[in-house]
This record gives sequence, structure tokens and C-alpha cells, in this order.
Amino acid sequence: MSKVTVVGAGNVGATCANVLAVNEVADQIVLIDIKQGFSEGKAMDIMQTAQLMGFDSVVTGVTNDYAATAGSDVVVVTSGLPRKPGMTREELIGVNAGIVKSVVESALKYSPDAKFVIVSNPMDPMAYLTVKSLGLPRNRVIGMGGALDSSRLKYFLSQAIGCNANEVEGLVIGGHGDTTMIPLTRLATYKGIPVSNFLSAEKLEEVAKATMVGGATLTGLLGTSAWMAPGAATSYLVESIIKDQKKMIVCGTFLEGEYGMNDILIGVPVIIGKDGIEKVIELDLNDDEKAKLAASEAAVRKTNSILHDMNLI
Ligand code: LAC
Repeated sequence: MSKVTVVGAGNVGATCANVLAVNEVADQIVLIDIKQGFSEGKAMDIMQTAQLMGFDSVVTGVTNDYAATAGSDVVVVTSGLPRKPGMTREELIGVNAGIVKSVVESALKYSPDAKFVIVSNPMDPMAYLTVKSLGLPRNRVIGMGGALDSSRLKYFLSQAIGCNANEVEGLVIGGHGDTTMIPLTRLATYKGIPVSNFLSAEKLEEVAKATMVGGATLTGLLGTSAWMAPGAATSYLVESIIKDQKKMIVCGTFLEGEYGMNDILIGVPVIIGKDGIEKVIELDLNDDEKAKLAASEAAVRKTNSILHDMNLI
């Protein structure tokens, strides 16, 4: 019997629960929120699609009752405020850090062996806070950003090439921020062929820029942060854990010497299986990519320092 808890029944959390259910990623999915009746309503709405969509997963909703989350294999944390147009993800730290810390503490009480997938923004610092404040081993705390950003890169590449997005491979490493993520267009392929065979250097630069502001563009269009791709990216990640698929996914990962970094959580490709982060893949980056990763590291460390100032770690 597999069980996944999704904390926060807002747009991202509810979409994630829906995709988890439709794809039958887990037998049991618990949606939990502080707003009275909200998760119950979202869960009931999802369950009323079960017959239409033909799934057997069971989604239940509870208001702030962590006992109902007991024994979860994976806990997804989407709690906190989403960004509004013109805001950066980093600006949310003051409000979201306290919320994320208390949520992970509550969830851990009832699911002491769970893997935590952190979605709340600013994502890398929120996952870093989870590692540092709970003292969890790094394999059990996974930042979702890279899975989403890599999916956006593949979308923009497929649009530029005019091909099926399922036939494109690509990775976005670094922080999950408009200026901190690094779309690795040099390593991206269409059917195993470098994308530079199909697109000019200028076009690849445009694709990289569109990817970096992918979330901000949607926030501008929607008036709030996106949820379809964030929810689906989270479910994709959770599925690799629950089904022990050993997929290579870019995830916010607490580094212990890899890429020459320590005591920081940032996006790098990892193997995701039943134990969470099972292996870190070290890429052979060129000088330009290394410089971008160093700048991303500096920016993420600066945001992390706010957690120290707030006495949260
Ligand atoms: C985004 C938010 C979830 O990138 O960070 O859409």
C-alpha cells in the first residue's frame, strides 16, 4: 500500500494530487490544508472524476489533521504563498519559511521515514531549510524545481524546432530562480542529435531566456503562479520514488562536495528511486557553464543567509 501526502490544497497541491490519482502513482493520496473544508472539497472533486478517468487511487482531504497523513512514503510540501506578477520567488521567503518549517515538523511526526518533496518557493532555500532544521539525510529531501524547469526547456525547444516535446531531452541546473537557473542547451538533444543541428546560437539563447522566465511569464498571464506544469512535475518526481523508477531528474539536492560545493541545496541531475536521491550525476561542464553555476551558487547562498538571519536554522 503506497501513500503520498500533499500539504497545501491550492492550485499546485490540488493539481499534483489530481495527476497522482489519474496516473495511479499511489494507492492513497492525502491532501491537507489549514483552510477549513478546502482539501475535503478538492479531494471530493477529484474523486468524482475517478469513474470518468478510470483510476483506482483514493484521494482524501483533511483540515490540518496530520494524524491522517501517518505512514506516508512521500510528503509533498506546497504550502505558503505563491508569487504575484512582478515578484521574484526569493521575495516569498519571509512568509513561507516559517510555514514550511512547521509543516515539515508536523508531517515528520507521523511519517518518520518519509521522503520530502519541496515545492514551496523560494524552492532551493525551502528545501535547504528542511535539511538543516530537521537534520534529515540528504537523500530524503528533494527540491522540485529542476524537473519543472527542464520540462519548460523541452517545451520551448520543441516549439522552436517544431517537433514533438517527447522527443527532446534537456536539463536545467542551478537554482530555481529567474536569474539563477542554467538551461544546458549545449547538452540538449532532439532524438539524440544535438539541438544545435536544428537551431542557431541566437535561437538557442532565446530558448534559454524564455525558459528562465518561464514561471514569471505565466505569473504575468495568470495573475498568480502557474500550477499545471508544477503539479505534473511534482507527480513525475513522486512516481520515480514510489515505483523505484531510477529516473534521472534535475532536483534541488543538498551537495556534499559534488560540483565543488558543500552546505548548499541547488539543482543538479540525480537518480530518483525508492530511497529518494540515490545518486548525484556530475556533469562535465564547460567554463561558461561553470561560471554560471558559480553565480547561481552565490545567489542561492545569499537567500539562504536570510534563513540564518530569521533564526530558522
Ligand atoms: C513556477 C513556480 C512553481 O516556476 O515556481 O511556476
